[in-house]
Amino acid sequence: MYYPDDLVEEVRTKNDIVDVISGYVRLQKKGANHFGLCPFHNEKSPSFSVSGPKQMYYCFGCGAGGNVFTFIMEYENYSFAEAVKLLAERAGVNLPEIEYSEEMKRKESRKSRLLEINKESARYFYYQLRSKRGEAGYRYLAGRGLGEETMKKFGLGFASVSSNDLVQYLRSKEYSDDLIQEAGVASFDERLGLHDKFWNRVMFPIQDTNHRVIGFGGRVMGDGKPKYLNSPETMIFDKSRNLYGLNFARTSRRNRMILCEGYMDVIAMHQAGFTEAVASLGTAFTIGQAGLIGRYVKEVLLAYDSDGAGTNAALRAIGILKEAGLGGKVINMEPYKDPDEFMKNLGPEEFAKRIETAENSFFFELRMLEREYDFKDPESKTKFHREIARKLCGFPEEVERENYLEAVAEKYHIGFENLRKLVASYAAQTGLAVPVKRPRTGIGEKKNVPEENRKNAQKLLITWLTDEPEIYPKIAKYIRAEDFTVELYRKVADKLLEGLSKGNFSPASLISLFSDEEEQREVASLFNTKLEALQTKQEREKALRDILYTVKRNSYEFYSERMGADVEALNQVIAGKKALEELSKTHISLDE
Ligand code: UTP
Ligand code: MN
Repeated sequence: MYYPDDLVEEVRTKNDIVDVISGYVRLQKKGANHFGLCPFHNEKSPSFSVSGPKQMYYCFGCGAGGNVFTFIMEYENYSFAEAVKLLAERAGVNLPEIEYSEEMKRKESRKSRLLEINKESARYFYYQLRSKRGEAGYRYLAGRGLGEETMKKFGLGFASVSSNDLVQYLRSKEYSDDLIQEAGVASFDERLGLHDKFWNRVMFPIQDTNHRVIGFGGRVMGDGKPKYLNSPETMIFDKSRNLYGLNFARTSRRNRMILCEGYMDVIAMHQAGFTEAVASLGTAFTIGQAGLIGRYVKEVLLAYDSDGAGTNAALRAIGILKEAGLGGKVINMEPYKDPDEFMKNLGPEEFAKRIETAENSFFFELRMLEREYDFKDPESKTKFHREIARKLCGFPEEVERENYLEAVAEKYHIGFENLRKLVASYAAQTGLAVPVKRPRTGIGEKKNVPEENRKNAQKLLITWLTDEPEIYPKIAKYIRAEDFTVELYRKVADKLLEGLSKGNFSPASLISLFSDEEEQREVASLFNTKLEALQTKQEREKALRDILYTVKRNSYEFYSERMGADVEALNQVIAGKKALEELSKTHISLDE
């Protein structure tokens, strides 16, 4: 946090959320809440609600939610500090110069210097493209069907033939050689000294979600190698946590994103009106990128190249999307190679049809698998059926599994009961709901399912407590902030439990305690996760006890592992054991 907490809180309380959001969205009062059309996704009937009493907003359609700062960050694409600034001005609060620690100052200033250098470089390339020396580049891009508007929107540029223009330019702006090299736009060797990394290429600036340039891809204008040269990863450029085009796609207000392979694909798609298109950055699609997409939409359409490499990449991406809990479909681009070519030949209307008929990713996987078997050979055919059964075991939820079972049986003319038996025998051997295995992608191992469940229990308990603070007295004696073993949740629980015991808890104020935007979003989501529709009082009582039990048990195991290394752990374990024993015999009543 750069501004003092109490000042941030002052800014927040002086900006009534209903007032602020009314400046952006038409709201209508209904009961205690105000409703309007959600500005973060496309909808015809209002599911966006703003609560005056809670000082929070939440969209029941897309899950966007948070406090007044979150709203400004999301709507204006602002950082937290920028949002605070805007709202401070609006309310006439004077802000001091940002207070950085020495360490922060160094890091922040290095970061912002690197951003400046990238921005200056982008300006320079942009200017070159429109100068005499950039004619070849302009011709190349125009020849590929890009209009002036599009080139401008994506800030396309040109790095000229001479190999030191940019370095000279940046030096003239008083950036040190050291920083210029660190920014990734120049390389150093004995012979040339510090020299431009990119030359004689058309340049694609890569922007983060706040439209800041963080790196470049540069393409040769012809068949040279490498086709694209990309900036190296730097302090500001993490290739696994950004996506090309996301700065536009995030506000496209479609309920989906289209994932392509290349920069040119994204640009062609946006030019054709598909502003929800994004691409990874010259590296394989990662779980981090899937998570990033998941912040905005729940469905991804894959528009990967239709060649062998593209198909394999699509299969890998499907696994990753599944892991991130996103729905996936595959767009068939035949007879064309990629979205860029498709658009040029068949146009947006045809593409829209292909979106409509995109294939469910499970069927796509089976169709690809099918090609490895010979259906005329009973042996091979059987193997294929076994493989289907194995894959069906990957659906942990019974209803979904049954639905797929039915659909697959019909599609491949397998007897439904036979296939079900096969699945059952497979499940018996290996255990149902084995986590979906995805092909190796070189990314760190993912958390296993039980851990995810434990995390969920902690999250649910926080949500429940914020939604219905009146249950707190009933469970107060069992629960402590230390039981929340996920660090972020512990921080939240710490404030939450303290507030609840004093009877003055405000979720909206809590969000501002987190400086990292990622964290803020997660905290906001904590207060907006909808609890499963639990109908009866018995169901609710049982659920509450189960959640509490899971949280306590996890906490017990967590601290048990740490005994010996940590004195405090021993106390936790003893207290935890007692609480668990008690809980297993206790019925929590939700009666008044
Ligand atoms: P493609 O070869 O499909 O390129 O690589 P493209 O974007 O469709 O470009 P055109 O249409 O041939 O001009 C897909 C992506 O893989 C990365 C780039 O991010 C590219 O957009 N790539 C490809 C590289 O990083 N380096 C390369 O040499 C090639
Ligand atoms: Mn291409």
